Amino acid sequence: MTAIASAAPLLEVDHVTVSYDGFKALNDLYFSMLPGSVHVLIGPNGAGKSTLLDTIIGRVRPTEGRIVFKGEDISALPEFRIVQRGICRKFQTPGVLDELSVEANILVAATRDRRSWRSFTMTRSAAERERVEEVLTMIGLIAKRKLPAAQLAHGERQWLEIGMVVASDADLLLLDEPAAGMTNREAGATAQLIRQLAGRHALIVIDHDMDFVEQIAAPVSVLHMGSMLAQGTVEEMRRDPQVAAVYLGKAPKGAADAHA
Ligand SMILES: Nc1ncnc2c1ncn2[C@@H]1O[C@H](COP(=O)(O)OP(=O)(O)OP(=O)(O)O)[C@@H](O)[C@H]1O
Ligand SMILES: [Mg+2]
Repeated sequence: MTAIASAAPLLEVDHVTVSYDGFKALNDLYFSMLPGSVHVLIGPNGAGKSTLLDTIIGRVRPTEGRIVFKGEDISALPEFRIVQRGICRKFQTPGVLDELSVEANILVAATRDRRSWRSFTMTRSAAERERVEEVLTMIGLIAKRKLPAAQLAHGERQWLEIGMVVASDADLLLLDEPAAGMTNREAGATAQLIRQLAGRHALIVIDHDMDFVEQIAAPVSVLHMGSMLAQGTVEEMRRDPQVAAVYLGKAPKGAADAHA
């Protein structure tokens, strides 16, 4: 990453260890990223990738070390406070409300106070409408805006989930395997969407599929047994013998095939 020397990191995972009865899911992990940057995390099953995202969003607490966001130690804050400060994690499946339209799902996510359900039966602000419009266009679902979310195909549903994260307008978006189960074409569109989001948002993207990762065209970190094994470009990671070794002699793509 060509970091400007003076730029302050948006996020710093400062020597974080997460222990479960002595087992270290994260082990003295250091990781930092600049505002608007994209970072891809790969690593074999059980490496600690999801645990890292859980720790950043406050669902899991560091046993040691701290999470610093915009210069503030957020390690002890409740999850909703962390979300308020500008971090959003891709909602798990229940995040999408099947009976609501595509458009209404985006609006619910865009509405900061998620308790104000009346917001989509009452007048919406012009800014809110414009933002929903913008997000629907970005995720390619503008033509399907009126459909109940239940009628979306698998890939489209994933895009809706990403759109809900984007609509939150958080400074840092956390996407755990956003292209899981997608066709190559859909995954390509998702990579393009991620590139489009960079700049306005910083993103951490977890995935196993090296072809998908390559299309994101961002720095890659390889996590192994809770520690950073290697960092560099996709090409560098492809050639790194240590990286190949943790994927049991196979290219990381092998792990993706097992997942598909
Ligand atoms: N609540 C928990 N209690 C005990 N061990 C846990 C807990 N959560 C995660 N672990 C362990 O921590 C390790 C890291 O898990 P994590 O889910 O972060 O891996 P991952 O890199 O996301 O893997 P995958 O690619 O399979 O999604 C695993 O060995 C897992 O079994
Ligand atoms: Mg995981």
